[in-house]
Amino acid sequence: MKDIKLEINIQYCQVDELSEEDRELVTVAKEATQNSYAKYSHFCVGAAIRLGDGRIIKGANQENAAFPSGLCAERTAVFAAQANYPEQPITTLAIAAKNEYGFTGEPVTPCGSCRQVMLEIEDRYQQPVKILLYGTHGVYALKSIKDLMPLCFVDENMHK
Ligand code: THU
Repeated sequence: MKDIKLEINIQYCQVDELSEEDRELVTVAKEATQNSYAKYSHFCVGAAIRLGDGRIIKGANQENAAFPSGLCAERTAVFAAQANYPEQPITTLAIAAKNEYGFTGEPVTPCGSCRQVMLEIEDRYQQPVKILLYGTHGVYALKSIKDLMPLCFVDENMHK
């Protein structure tokens, strides 16, 4: 038996080090937290997606008294984008979150289900989705959702 080490690449930077386009997306993700319906967790998550044509789509978590019926910010944004602009690839996704103290200091990281949904987007449009995870202390910037998902499961795994 041997150990296998898997490497992932994540960049950590300040918002002002991002490109103007990415800074705008982070700003929209922060604004989108205002559209969150987080009656139960009081954790307000905002998402902003940039499409291939430059258009920005917002998302925000939507909770429900029947907890599993709610949905994360990332998936509301991804599904809205695909339902309205299915011909447009998603190039970048930014997320930001507020707790009782304000925006989180540490970058907010997507849950497993949202990672899997974003992976499907990369598979569908055959291009990586840049991910920007905002925190007041700094931003994690990833070139692809695969950087958050070593040994991920995609369609092609069923045919190998
Ligand atoms: N949530 C998101 O919207 N995105 C994440 O990446 C993590 C969690 C939401 C789901 C739920 O409404 C609340 O945050 C607490 O889990």
